[in-house]
Amino acid sequence: MKNRKCLVINGPNLNRLGKREPGIYGAQTLEDLQADLVSFSRELLMDLSFEQSNNEGDIIDFIHGAEGEFGGIVLNAGAYTHYSYAIRDAISSVDVPVIEVHLSNVHAREEFRRESVIAPVTIGQISGFGFDSYRLALQVFHNQLKGDTL
Ligand code: DQA
Repeated sequence: MKNRKCLVINGPNLNRLGKREPGIYGAQTLEDLQADLVSFSRELLMDLSFEQSNNEGDIIDFIHGAEGEFGGIVLNAGAYTHYSYAIRDAISSVDVPVIEVHLSNVHAREEFRRESVIAPVTIGQISGFGFDSYRLALQVFHNQLKGDTL
């Protein structure tokens, strides 16, 4: 990670957090998630921006637009994770490290969720820890900035 600015991108249906399958995704909303991450980023002295879209092309544009602007991207691509080669190619096309995150443990659910077509072009995947999946990703970028990686 080259600078303290991090872009958090949430993909399809994540605007429905709080209403959507609360047994899996919890009762808190996307606004709650973003507020939680803003307060955590202050502790880490990082500067966060947020995007959310239900459309593949928008997510691709957010990734392209991050180059030269953001030091890293935290990406929850929702169901696109499992089949969007276009998002995978967008990640490959930019010189910005991406961490893939999921609220739920995608490996403990339906078979189709076990495959991530984007994982091979990210620096890693964090899955199953709710909001903490995003916090852990920010912590990784923070550690990289400090040169404090294990
Ligand atoms: C998700 C997992 C995906 O399989 C699903 O399609 C989502 C949310 C998660 O955060 O757990 O939309 O990315």
